[in-house]
Amino acid sequence: MSGQNSGRTILITGASDGLGKEAARKLAARGMRLILHGRNEAKLRAVVDSIYAEYPHANIETILADFSSLAEVRAMAAEIIRRCSHLDVLVNNAGILPFKQEESADGFELTFGVNYLAPFLLTNLLLPLLKNSAPARVVNLSSVAHHLVVVNPYQIENSPVFIPWIVYARTKLLLTAFTFALARRLKSCGVSCVALHPGIIPGTNVTHFTWLRFRTTREEGAETIVAACLNPEFEHSEGAYISIDRKARANPQALSIRFQETLWKKSLAWCGLTETGQVPATDKNKPDVLCQPLSAGDKRE
Ligand SMILES: NC(=O)c1ccc[n+]([C@@H]2O[C@H](COP(=O)([O-])OP(=O)(O)OC[C@H]3O[C@@H](n4cnc5c(N)ncnc54)[C@H](OP(=O)(O)O)[C@@H]3O)[C@@H](O)[C@H]2O)c1
Repeated sequence: MSGQNSGRTILITGASDGLGKEAARKLAARGMRLILHGRNEAKLRAVVDSIYAEYPHANIETILADFSSLAEVRAMAAEIIRRCSHLDVLVNNAGILPFKQEESADGFELTFGVNYLAPFLLTNLLLPLLKNSAPARVVNLSSVAHHLVVVNPYQIENSPVFIPWIVYARTKLLLTAFTFALARRLKSCGVSCVALHPGIIPGTNVTHFTWLRFRTTREEGAETIVAACLNPEFEHSEGAYISIDRKARANPQALSIRFQETLWKKSLAWCGLTETGQVPATDKNKPDVLCQPLSAGDKRE
């Protein structure tokens, strides 16, 4: 991510509201080509219109997908690959903290499906594009809440009890572990991986906890996302976790290679992907074989 950043192509999921929307505004101001994802067409359109009103020369495309369905994630990845020859940064920002227990279209607990499985699948399907665009980056929206939980490796996909913030925090721990596992796989491919905690921003759909003491503004939170996307410091890192404005240590479980690899293996199966081997790091012309769709469709353990 060296030199002038303007003109880079950045895909932000969950850009129809909150931090994603604010980060899109800030990146448009810096001259990036944006692909903004949402699940509600009218809401996403309003965001795009507001950015064009402020920055008439912005370059914005949109894409729709509901992350409660892995089929929609697959369709989104296929559409991105069809449209784009280049992707510099993927920002996995879309996230939820629902108060009641629901199931995704694929039969997973909804928070797990939207916050973890969807970005795992989307990222894996977009890896060939990211590698061909190196130096490129994957930015995952974690949370300081990931420090507050431990996940039983034999019961990853289901929290033993449905307590909303615990279920949410577990998904953020998984996303952080995924960030480091991915970074290890991609370290010689020129694709860097960053997980971040943006601060606690009251008034978004994710923070129903407006009583929390440590408050960050939406602008400050979005600035952390921008830095994670563009800061050259992370270019050659073996995975990083940023808390607001500085590098921090992630939950030790997220750093455990054993846990990361258990999670990776299970996630491939949950998403109907198979790991067949590693791509030689520097050979960008070879077809990507890190993950391939299983022909038999979804498979759950
Ligand atoms: N806010 C905080 O204090 C805080 C702290 C730590 C981490 N984070 C993380 O930061 C990220 C953004 O949070 P936020 O506060 O900006 O939340 P937000 O305002 O609720 O925005 C969430 C975004 O995700 C989208 N989304 C929700 N469910 C979806 C689904 N099923 N399919 C596709 N998109 C979906 C939303 O779309 P709609 O507009 O259609 O609802 C929206 O664009 C999340 O990953 C969150 O966990 C936030």
